[in-house]
Amino acid sequence: MAELRHNSSIGGRATPSPRNAMTVYSQNFKILLFFITILAFAGVFTVYSVISHLNAPYLCTKDGITLHCPRVKEPPSLWENPLSATNSWKPCKERRIGSISDLPEANETNGYIFIHAEGGLNQQRIAICNAVAVAKIMNATLILPVLKQDQIWKDQIKFEDIFDVDHFIDYLKDDVRIVRDIPSWFADKSELFTSIRRTVKNIPKYAPAQFYINNVLPRIKEKKIMALKPFVDRLGYDNVPQEINRLRCRVNYHALKFLPEIDEMADQLVARMRNRTGSPNPFMALHLRFEIGMVGLSFCDFVGTRAEKALMGLYRLKEWPRRFKDGSHLWPLALQKRKEGRCPLEPGEVAVMLRAMGYPKETQIYVASGQVYGGQNRMAPLRNMFPNLVTKEELTTKDELDSFRKHVTSLAALDFLVCLKSDVFVMTHGGNFAKLIIGARRYMGHSQKSIKPDKGPLSKS
Ligand SMILES: *[C@@H]1O[C@H](CO)[C@@H](O)[C@H](O)[C@H]1NC(C)=O
Ligand SMILES: *[C@@H]1O[C@H](CO)[C@@H](O)[C@H](O)[C@H]1NC(C)=O
Ligand SMILES: *[C@@H]1O[C@H](CO)[C@@H](O)[C@H](O)[C@H]1NC(C)=O
Repeated sequence: MAELRHNSSIGGRATPSPRNAMTVYSQNFKILLFFITILAFAGVFTVYSVISHLNAPYLCTKDGITLHCPRVKEPPSLWENPLSATNSWKPCKERRIGSISDLPEANETNGYIFIHAEGGLNQQRIAICNAVAVAKIMNATLILPVLKQDQIWKDQIKFEDIFDVDHFIDYLKDDVRIVRDIPSWFADKSELFTSIRRTVKNIPKYAPAQFYINNVLPRIKEKKIMALKPFVDRLGYDNVPQEINRLRCRVNYHALKFLPEIDEMADQLVARMRNRTGSPNPFMALHLRFEIGMVGLSFCDFVGTRAEKALMGLYRLKEWPRRFKDGSHLWPLALQKRKEGRCPLEPGEVAVMLRAMGYPKETQIYVASGQVYGGQNRMAPLRNMFPNLVTKEELTTKDELDSFRKHVTSLAALDFLVCLKSDVFVMTHGGNFAKLIIGARRYMGHSQKSIKPDKGPLSKS
């Protein structure tokens, strides 16, 4: 009985009235409907995100990182400069309106200045621009700058081996008086190269124009001929008259022309790049800075075998013993530098970046580069993703390049011009070469696209 009562009591609780049953049923249904709706939303979202992930460039699928990626795989602007409509910039070519030559007579010059243009091709170029500007500031006569043998390239080259001297002097004839050689009345030429008494040494970096007038000019007036040394970055940009900056600009973009044979060879290389598919195709020039020296000096860490890293450690210790210290500081420093985007991009990283931007496998790429650190192995990812990768050596016969091989600087000049004329220019690390190219491409009317990767955010992936 007790059991039965127990049962019925259970039954009493377990058997709800019909009205209650309806409520429970409809509540269950609502919950079910709710879940189905959520599932449907989730499904749609998943399909959408899978599709968008498939479409999204590889780099943009990383979690937790906001990268600004192009929406479409191959944007029509791949080969166009989005800023090409910019028209607020004007070339500095023109001299002051209505200005006539204000050059003092040759016999009334304040004196002669002499400089060594040091470093690689582009550092030399900057020094030459500055030398012309300094001569103008002081109304001095400029002796054609001597290109100093480069420490790294060991290239013994003269101004006339690479630049068109007649054009240089003629183009600037209303601005600055330039003579080809040390005047013949000056007896002891070697004194100019060696004597401290003939050298102005104390010019600070990025000195203002006034410094030259106050401190250098009196010495030049007194001695008539002086060498300025060292002469790397010895003239500022913001602290000189506008007209002097315009003059520097004219030197860089107009007065300094490579020899015609260099120009012609570069034009041929460009034509061959644009005709690699048999019908006209655009091409990209990639300035790949990943030589052992660049990698070493960066003090960044790179993917590589244990043996490779040990060798790199030894190399750094030998080349930069003071910076290397005991090597223990390298790791945190390297990480920090990478986060700040101050490490040269590896060929593989360049490949991923270009693909992420939408450049297809077929893209024709001209590579301007020194000996890539790690050689073919390190280049493999880039070559696999972009097989149409060529250097000037592959575009030419051995004979064609032979006359340029005499000077590393002539070869650098060829790379310079091809990069300058490419449809898209990509730089991977700073330096004068890339800066001058990008500057010149802007100067030529902003019509060509130049890509300067934002390596900070890139490093997070
Ligand atoms: C420079 O030469 C001009 C004539 O060519 C002459 O009139 C002038 O007096 C000379 N100036 C000096 C400082 O010798
Ligand atoms: C340079 O020459 C111009 C015109 O002859 C003159 O106005 C200017 O003051 C001179 N500057 C110097 C530093 O001698
Ligand atoms: C492009 O290359 C083809 C052969 O590959 C050649 O016949 C043609 O003349 C070239 N066109 C130009 C403009 O160089």
